[in-house]
Amino acid sequence: MKYLITGGAGFIGGYLAEALIAKGNQVTVIDDLSTGSMDNLAAIIDHPDLTFVEGDILSMDGLEAMAGQNDYIFHLAAAVGVELVVHDPIKTIETNIHGTERILKAASKFDKRILVASTSEVYGKSTNEQFSESDDLLIGPSSISRWSYACSKLLDEFFVMAYCQKANLQGTVVRLFNTVGPRQTGQYGMVVPRFVASAVTGEDITVYGTGEQTRCFCHVLDTVNALQQLADNPDSIGKLFNVGSHNKVSILQLAQQIIKQLNSSSKIVFIPYEQAYEKGFEDMLHRAPNTSLIKDFIGWEAERSLEQIIDDVAVYFNNRG
Ligand SMILES: NC(=O)c1ccc[n+]([C@@H]2O[C@H](COP(=O)([O-])OP(=O)(O)OC[C@H]3O[C@@H](n4cnc5c(N)ncnc54)[C@H](O)[C@@H]3O)[C@@H](O)[C@H]2O)c1
Repeated sequence: MKYLITGGAGFIGGYLAEALIAKGNQVTVIDDLSTGSMDNLAAIIDHPDLTFVEGDILSMDGLEAMAGQNDYIFHLAAAVGVELVVHDPIKTIETNIHGTERILKAASKFDKRILVASTSEVYGKSTNEQFSESDDLLIGPSSISRWSYACSKLLDEFFVMAYCQKANLQGTVVRLFNTVGPRQTGQYGMVVPRFVASAVTGEDITVYGTGEQTRCFCHVLDTVNALQQLADNPDSIGKLFNVGSHNKVSILQLAQQIIKQLNSSSKIVFIPYEQAYEKGFEDMLHRAPNTSLIKDFIGWEAERSLEQIIDDVAVYFNNRG
């Protein structure tokens, strides 16, 4: 099979490209390297089945033709990460809406299947213990720029569903919950690499807010497994799935577990959200997926523990020196 991955030089995209190539497929990656890096493709960059195209999905020539030349499209390119979103909301909105629109039009024109990555951020400030795909969504006000990420991704979801209904698009949507693992960068506010990097160097670990907020961390290899299984199953067309784990932990507990597991001398310090991000910044207290839909559909469940995630990320940082 021939696969096109937009955002394929990103954290998740790099693992996905590796997995597809390992199975004997041909992969074309489009990426503008804004948050991605060629390091994420280092293991396969010289492989004859990989084609890398540097380009911006908003403006590049040839996007449509590339969609037509491939059998399946994974659309992962997006402005990602709370810090990036807060600092550049215009780019976030443009990339996540117009970029997705371009690729959906191309997929629809050539009758190609496509999987679009959305996010658990769309559940917004919901206080449900677990979030299910059919839940109502509670997004914050437009004066707080962090919600532009959730809203732009939500619009992507509506786009996919509308194209499926009105233009026979063969589209699938995944709402990814916190996906972590080696190679993820802490540069854009991702908490696990930020904490582990501090722990291995003995620097203070900075917790934003009280640390009582909980998250469920899913190993990137589990996520990539889910994406491939959904792509392999034509019955996923027109459907939307949560993809996440049940490794639930508060951010303070995460910092404590990282310090203990890595035998680190780091101390934990706290700073208010407003100092870390922007005035009036809002965060969800808890964010846990209900994954019964994907489990019933393809039998997928995240397998790797938080302990393994921390070990894998620490090995990565140690190897990098
Ligand atoms: N990692 C997570 O926890 C998580 C959670 C929810 C959703 N997601 C979604 O999964 C997808 C992949 O995320 P990731 O964690 O790998 O982040 P990432 O930032 O590593 O990957 C995104 C990739 O898209 C590329 N990109 C951005 N704008 C582009 C443009 N205009 N043209 C071409 N390429 C562009 C970036 O350079 C990067 O390589 C994104 O759609 C993201 O919204 C990720």
